[in-house]
Amino acid sequence: MNAPLAALANDRFLRALKRQPVDRTPVWIMRQAGRYLPEYRATRARAGSFMKLCQTPELACEVSLQPVDRFPLDAAILFSDILTIPDAMGLGLSFAEGEGPRFARPLRSKQDIDRLGLPDMASDLGYVTDAVRMIRHELHGRVPLIGFSGSPWTLACYMIEGGGSEHFARAKSLLWDDPASAHRLLALLARTVAAYLGAQIAAGAQAVMVFDTWGGALSLPHYHEFSLRYLREVAALLPRGDGAARVPLILFSKGCGHSLEAQAETGADAIGLDWTIALDDARRRVGDRVALQGNVDPVVLYAGTSAIRAEAIRAVHDFGPHPGHVFNLGHGIHPTMDPEKLRLLIDTVHRESAALFASA
Ligand code: CP3
Repeated sequence: MNAPLAALANDRFLRALKRQPVDRTPVWIMRQAGRYLPEYRATRARAGSFMKLCQTPELACEVSLQPVDRFPLDAAILFSDILTIPDAMGLGLSFAEGEGPRFARPLRSKQDIDRLGLPDMASDLGYVTDAVRMIRHELHGRVPLIGFSGSPWTLACYMIEGGGSEHFARAKSLLWDDPASAHRLLALLARTVAAYLGAQIAAGAQAVMVFDTWGGALSLPHYHEFSLRYLREVAALLPRGDGAARVPLILFSKGCGHSLEAQAETGADAIGLDWTIALDDARRRVGDRVALQGNVDPVVLYAGTSAIRAEAIRAVHDFGPHPGHVFNLGHGIHPTMDPEKLRLLIDTVHRESAALFASA
């Protein structure tokens, strides 16, 4: 089970999620374990395939630790993928070289949806909880470990489309043409996501994050009816302890800055922001109800060093000398980015925020 907070050498990330004061702003980066790191590419080559990497706890553990070993990051994230859930539900996941994810058996009818059941966490997804346990052990309390899942809506997108999609024609059509089946699917996914994150928490995850990558593909009313509603359900169903031992939940609906106030009412402890929302505006809008995570445009890492420094400084000052900010990019780091530019970003956030907190 979870070790107490005191056992952590660096608890800035968990303190910030609980909106407690910190000496400097904690930093972690979405996709921090990934192809932009040469050491990741080497382990990935040894594994043979991305799925093999995810399903071999020793290798998943190795790549989770790589960014934490290389950079002064304030959290580690489980190495896995959001598509483990549909795979465990029998859809047959594969990743073709140089292409995105593919399902052998996508949901193509009402009957396909009706046949689905809750996967068994131990037998179908035990490789994920094994990886969580191993990473927690190998971290030796250096930094906390984040577990994660896709959101019900984002998982449904991939399950219905059978892979990535530009317009989500099939997934979105279902919402209009057969909303009852859509709701049945999303309700089952909400129960599954809560059980999955609960299993990761039981195995040692010290915070959990839900990626609603495609929330922003929906109209405002559809976002509320088909995505946010099920994020609320995940938050309500998630077994995550009480009081000081309660495991924080981060929600990230990309492209959904229109609904920050509603996101802050879901029961989540923190809300992820992309770069289209200013941190100071977001803080004014949600008040002290939740912490905020974000939000620098990842593409700045392709720009020059002075631009990177300026963006990091701007983010620290936009949020200001208040508790409750976790620095991150507004989406994942790209595979072709230079790792040394990420180091500059992390160092600048740490240095600038330490100076700001010391003078406040
Ligand atoms: O470091 C981390 O953040 C932890 C690992 C992680 C991965 N995927 C590893 C991965 C996390 C948190 C994810 C989440 C994920 N996966 C999301 C939500 C976040 C987001 O990026 O929007 C989504 C939509 C997926 C689905 C997915 N997985 C796609 C569309 C792809 C192919 C596109 C791509 O980037 O290649 C993946 C593959 C994937 N997941 C890779 C990694 C490191 C690359 C695979 C490889 O090594 O060949």
